[in-house]
Amino acid sequence: MKQVQIKLFKGILLFIFIVVHACTPPKPIKGAVVSAREEASAIGVEIMKKGGSAFDAMIATDLALTVCYPNAGNIAGGGFLVYRTNQGVKGSLDFREKAPLAADANMYLDTEGNVIPKISTLGGLAVGVPGTVAGLYEIHQKFGTLAWEDLVQPAISLAKNGYVVTEKQYKSFEGKKEDFIAVNGIDTFYAQGFKAGDLVKNEALAVTLEHIAKKGKAGFYEGPVADALIQRVQATGGIITHEDLLTYKPVWRDPVYFKYKDLSIYTMAPPSSGGICLGQIMKMIEPYNVGQYEQNSMEAIQIIVEAERRSYADRSLYLGDPDFVNIPQDSLLDVSYLNERMESFSFENATKSPEINPGTIVWEESEETTHYSIVDPMGNAVAVTTTLNGSYGSKVFVEEGGYFLNNEMDDFSSKPGVPNMFGLIGGKANAIAPQKRMLSAMTPTIVERNGKLAMVVGTPGGSTIITSVLQTLLNVFEYDMDIQTAVTRPRFHHQWLPDVVIFEPNLFSQSLMDSLQGKGYDIKEQYSRIIGRVDAILISEDMSLSTGADPRGDDAAVHLY
Ligand code: DON
Repeated sequence: MKQVQIKLFKGILLFIFIVVHACTPPKPIKGAVVSAREEASAIGVEIMKKGGSAFDAMIATDLALTVCYPNAGNIAGGGFLVYRTNQGVKGSLDFREKAPLAADANMYLDTEGNVIPKISTLGGLAVGVPGTVAGLYEIHQKFGTLAWEDLVQPAISLAKNGYVVTEKQYKSFEGKKEDFIAVNGIDTFYAQGFKAGDLVKNEALAVTLEHIAKKGKAGFYEGPVADALIQRVQATGGIITHEDLLTYKPVWRDPVYFKYKDLSIYTMAPPSSGGICLGQIMKMIEPYNVGQYEQNSMEAIQIIVEAERRSYADRSLYLGDPDFVNIPQDSLLDVSYLNERMESFSFENATKSPEINPGTIVWEESEETTHYSIVDPMGNAVAVTTTLNGSYGSKVFVEEGGYFLNNEMDDFSSKPGVPNMFGLIGGKANAIAPQKRMLSAMTPTIVERNGKLAMVVGTPGGSTIITSVLQTLLNVFEYDMDIQTAVTRPRFHHQWLPDVVIFEPNLFSQSLMDSLQGKGYDIKEQYSRIIGRVDAILISEDMSLSTGADPRGDDAAVHLY
């Protein structure tokens, strides 16, 4: 009898617990960091708990990614920040790498004018002058509220105490081990065979970060850290000098702005192609009301692919570093120009890329990256995409400093018409010149609706960055998906040349593939790491936050309640 009573009592308690739980509204999220690693997101949130802003959290998150996500997180790469303050001020910082002073347009060509394989991707000659530390320091000067040292400290502790290798990371280390050894020798730090679950302590990086903590920008661009970097670049065939480091400066730029229906979109301007291409594609799509077709249906895919084809063709001709070439930005985003570009599109047949040339514009002369999104409790928002370019960049590891150097020089066009590692083609506008910035596709983006912050989004993925950001935006604003679903949904990609539409494998139906092929589209189902890893934050009308972390990676959202 007694046992029955106890069971009944437990049952009642459980019932009360369930009812109370169901009736308690979820705690509102006050701030959030979504990044490629949980440790880095958590570090950003800790900074906000101490009263730091999204900008402070950005610095701490970025440096933490250098430690625990060494394939893309970096102090020797570059990137872009797009921000919106809680006062509604929008802006962006370009801390993209630059070509060294000794670079020249033909530096990757042999005597017959052919591109020499691999030298723009592997080894010291592939390295662009890094911009990340200068960028973070510049952001701190303008927006920082906590002390610089306190923002660097969590990364120092992480480097000293270690981070745990994930399964995906273990595979990534194994996949690149041969390259690490080929460039750095058998004893190189990341070739020691770390397995999933191992703790990686990077003492050398902790020391580098301590210099940066004490001296700020100068802790990286001058003194012993700079000496080790230059020595390593030159020992591996590179041409960066102390003068390159000393003259590096990030640049505040106006973001690209365009309207899509009731949304105002702020995204990265050249030297990224991301903003202009995203704007062109969305403006070309807008008249078709793509939301009337099912998401990932044949019609929706056709409209999107055809707009992408036309935009990537323009990219190849017109885009480069705005400090070196005149970019007809307004003309490229002009609605009548874009409508005209789409006149040749029909639902009947694919347009073939060789039939699409970059549009004629008359204007007056006048494999690795990472993205994170942050919103703080005060309402400031940052979207940051940063990169070493390829996974672990040039694979050159500064042993004394504990970090990899970028291979961003490959984002230049080594020779007109010859594709880079993402198959992207460029011309004169993106030719190499001393101190010029190489064209990027990174697309950190902030969306406003009715004058209020609505979304923070971005992704890695080389040439697929623009199209992955695009699909996430459409999933939310055309297809009413919650942000996690929008980020997770299968994606496809087209970039003019090569003239193929790439689909994530086994996620699109055979009948859809067959129908598209019937209309003349070349299809490739490809397992591709580079179809984006989108990390996003959605802010609804009532200002409540929700987050989407891409399950394609180890990405994680950490919330501040
Ligand atoms: O700036 C760019 O567009 C490229 N360097 C980005 C490289 C990238 O996203 C590789 N990631 N998967």
